[in-house]
Amino acid sequence: MDYTPIRISTIFPKRALSFELYIFFKEHFLKYIEVGRALEEEHLDKLKKQKIARFYIRDTDEGNYQNFLDEVLNQTIDDPSVEMGDKVNFAEGNACTAVEDMKKDPGSKQSYHNTKRAAKTLRKLIADNPDALKNFYGRKETAETDLLIKHCLNVSALVVGVAKVCDLGEDDQDALSIAGLLHDLGISRYNEEEQQLFLKVYKTMTLEEKKIYQQHPAMAAELLKKNPFVDPIIVDLILSHEEKISGEGYPEKKTKLTLPQEILSLCNCYDKRVTVLGMSPKDALKVVQVDELGNYNLELINKFKKQLKDNGIVI
Ligand SMILES: [Fe+2]
Ligand SMILES: [Fe+2]
Repeated sequence: MDYTPIRISTIFPKRALSFELYIFFKEHFLKYIEVGRALEEEHLDKLKKQKIARFYIRDTDEGNYQNFLDEVLNQTIDDPSVEMGDKVNFAEGNACTAVEDMKKDPGSKQSYHNTKRAAKTLRKLIADNPDALKNFYGRKETAETDLLIKHCLNVSALVVGVAKVCDLGEDDQDALSIAGLLHDLGISRYNEEEQQLFLKVYKTMTLEEKKIYQQHPAMAAELLKKNPFVDPIIVDLILSHEEKISGEGYPEKKTKLTLPQEILSLCNCYDKRVTVLGMSPKDALKVVQVDELGNYNLELINKFKKQLKDNGIVI
């Protein structure tokens, strides 16, 4: 029998399961939850104590697991009686899985489908639940997740919030959320030494380093463009995520951006400072307001600022 690992956080608690869950313990797969039963809080506490990070499902149950994720997205995420913490965990677990899988195999149709679902889950969470953005953005990060993935998740959450206050519709919000998750996919194609550039402040890079780093939007776009199932709008958003209206961005030094392009670029440059460079949200906002003046429309910067304050991310 073959088993597939899945993130524990993607198993929404207190929902009866249509598939069996296994854990890998002392070199064996042990059945942990039977069909028809649900994951309960006490299970989660036990798993944490035993430091078990993954569930396993039987390969033949993959379809049932996918249906379960769809059901939670459609029935639970906008249910106001369900705990916010559970929703945030679920959204994060799905988004992490999606970004990790796309890093491993950017040509996988199933992984892209999962990315779209993860983005929609995040969009519904943020758009339909007051306080969700604050909860998601301020969540305690899982230690196993690397900075690149954390950054992609945070950008994806931020773009949805900003798109909403800019009155963009659900399709634009979904597209931005997907692009947020995948925008820095190109970084994972660099060699180990080049990947370190991600941790550097762009302004402090040497000319040679800048030349290398400037390639990452096109690298991601090239990878995704090859797949007929990827919407060209997503490729375009990713290609332009480092562009600024001042013409000081890259790779094309554009001077005109669509509103979704500008939102993605702004959220990216803000969150890079918070999640990757370790600035406080308040300081990052201050720096963006000063350093990025002229790089984005003032009206958008003001809406962005209001969004951060209204959501309690910046006090
Ligand atoms: Fe980037
Ligand atoms: Fe980024």
